[in-house]
This record gives sequence, structure tokens and C-alpha cells, in this order.
Amino acid sequence: MNMIKLGNTDLSVSTLCLGCLYFLARETREDSFRRLDQYLDAGGNFLDTANMYSHWINETTRGGESETLIGEWLKARNSRSKVVIASKVGFPYPGVPYGTSARQIREECDKSLKRMGVDHIDLYYAHSDDRTTPMEETLGAFNDLILEGKIGHIGASNFSSWRLERARQTSRANGWAEYCCVQQRYSYLRPKAGWDFGEQVAANDDLLEYVKDTGISLLAYSPLLYGTYTDRTKTVMEQYQGPDSDARLKVLDEVASEAGATRNQVVYYWLMNAEPNAIPLVASTTDEQFAEALGAMNLRLTDEQMKRLTEAKA
Ligand SMILES: NC(=O)c1ccc[n+]([C@@H]2O[C@H](COP(=O)([O-])OP(=O)(O)OC[C@H]3O[C@@H](n4cnc5c(N)ncnc54)[C@H](OP(=O)(O)O)[C@@H]3O)[C@@H](O)[C@H]2O)c1
Repeated sequence: MNMIKLGNTDLSVSTLCLGCLYFLARETREDSFRRLDQYLDAGGNFLDTANMYSHWINETTRGGESETLIGEWLKARNSRSKVVIASKVGFPYPGVPYGTSARQIREECDKSLKRMGVDHIDLYYAHSDDRTTPMEETLGAFNDLILEGKIGHIGASNFSSWRLERARQTSRANGWAEYCCVQQRYSYLRPKAGWDFGEQVAANDDLLEYVKDTGISLLAYSPLLYGTYTDRTKTVMEQYQGPDSDARLKVLDEVASEAGATRNQVVYYWLMNAEPNAIPLVASTTDEQFAEALGAMNLRLTDEQMKRLTEAKA
């Protein structure tokens, strides 16, 4: 698997990140272990989890399942040194309120370290932009954890670009660590103007320019729009339906056909190779889906095909 530097850090991460959201919640222990093994075997090193994954799956899940599973796997495979672990704090789950107050960050970081059985989280995200806590408090707390060696770098998720810039200025003014990456809802299809995803924030043109300008990394969550590009039993979310998506799907199909690839593979490839490039978070339920994702690494599209994909619009 290809490797890339994460933002302006010294971390080298694979260009496909493994989304671990469903581990030990929707996916069994056996299936979760197998996916982690397959990912490592394919050369991947970048795991994405969060403290609250995935409390909403059923009546027995309380949050922390994904981190617990990762901890069990790290121990069973003795693989801590082979992976870069990203976790998050900020969204609520049973017994834990919303937010990134200093206290919450410290308490949740300790819980995440314990669940995973590690003494260091390589990348720690603010999962959401908590506007009820002063930015100085959140960034100061993250910086303290870095100085204590509990976390390596910090990232932001579900932030608007002006808030990212405000955070960068706050960090610089105080000599604190800066967010090295942003994780946003991002795929090939673009949400319609005025879209709403609740707590989730999608990448828009403004954010893409911000990423290019600052050199922070962009991570793309929900890159396959839950499988709707190829799974005919599913419908594309309402926020994405319209003439712009119709035009982009037409070009996506043309390029996929020319390249002998699937729509999903072209979507992953486009995300990884467009300007700015993004790191897609891969979440496969079946081995076939995972093999399809890995197949995107072997694709080669021409500059003309990439241009056509990028410029397609209604
Ligand atoms: N920062 C945030 O706020 C945030 C939010 C959401 C997710 N995330 C992260 O992003 C990761 C990925 O998010 P996501 O699950 O929403 O991603 P996604 O790629 O949009 O959806 C994954 C789902 O699509 C289906 N799928 C996967 N590969 C497929 C294939 N090759 N063909 C057909 N269907 C396929 C599967 O559903 P079926 O089982 O129905 O087939 C799978 O559960 C998560 O694991 C998590 O780490 C972060």
C-alpha cells in the first residue's frame, strides 16, 4: 500500500485508512480480527476509531467496543508498533456528555488508552467542534496531553474551515500543537446547496482550498455513501440527489468502464489522487467489499480521466 505523510507531521500513514467503527458492535470479534489482519497484510497501518464507537448499534452496545476490540487485536498480534492509531473525543455516549472541555478530553483519553491497552494514541481528534467550550481550553488540554506523551498529534473532525483557521491562530499564539488534519464527510458526489447532515460536516470547496493552502491532511469518511454507488438495494441520500450527481455518475460510469474498474474503486482512486488528495476511510462488511477497496490501489487513471471526473457537473 502507498504511504503518505500526515499533514506537516512526521507520521507516515497508508493512503487507505481502516474505519473501525463497527468492530465488536455490528461485526463479530472474529470478523473484526480478520479485517485487521487483512489490512495489515495488505500493507495498511492507519486505524480509525473513536471513544463512542458504536454505542447505537443495539441494546447491549455502550460505546468503547471498537477501541476494546483494537486493544485485544494489538495484544494478540503484538502489533502496536506496526500501526498508527487515531481515536476521537467529543460526541456523547452513555454516561458521557457532548463536548471537548479540558476535563472531558483528559478523562476520555485515559479511558481510550485503557481500552486499547496502549500508553500513546498517535492521532487524537476533536470529533466535533464544541462551540460551548472556549477554543483555548480544548487546544490547551490537547497540548498538555502531547507534552505528557499520551497523544502524538491532534486532528479536527466536522469543523468548518473558518473554525479550523481560528484554531490554527489560537495554537500559534500560544505555541501549542496545531490540528494536522481534518476528517470530514467526503465522497465523489457532492451534497446539494443547503444540505444538512446534523452533527456531520461535509467537505466543501472552501475546505478543499483550505487544505491545499495549509498542507493539513484531509480524511474522507463515508466515502462510498454507505455503499449506494453499487448496491442497487440502497438509495443515494436525499442530500446528494439532483442534476449535479446525475452528471457526475454518468462520468463515473464512463471512466469505470474505460478502466475496467467498479464505481467504488474509481471513487476511492479519485479521492486519493485528486487535488487536494484525501485519505479515504474504508469500512467493508464482507471480504469481497474489502478486496474491491484494495483493488483501487492497482488502478491507473490518466490525467484526462481524472480531469473529466473532477470537472463533471450539471
Ligand atoms: N468523523 C466522523 O464523524 C465519522 C462519521 C462516520 C464515519 N467515520 C469513520 O469513517 C469510516 C467509514 O465510514 P462509513 O462506514 O460511513 O463509510 P462508507 O464507505 O460510506 O460506508 C461503508 C458501508 O458501505 C457498504 N460497503 C462497503 N464497501 C462496499 C463495497 N465495496 N460495495 C458495496 N457496499 C460497500 C457496507 O455496508 P453494508 O454492510 O450495508 O454492505 C459498509 O458498512 C468509519 O468506520 C469511521 O471510522 C467518521
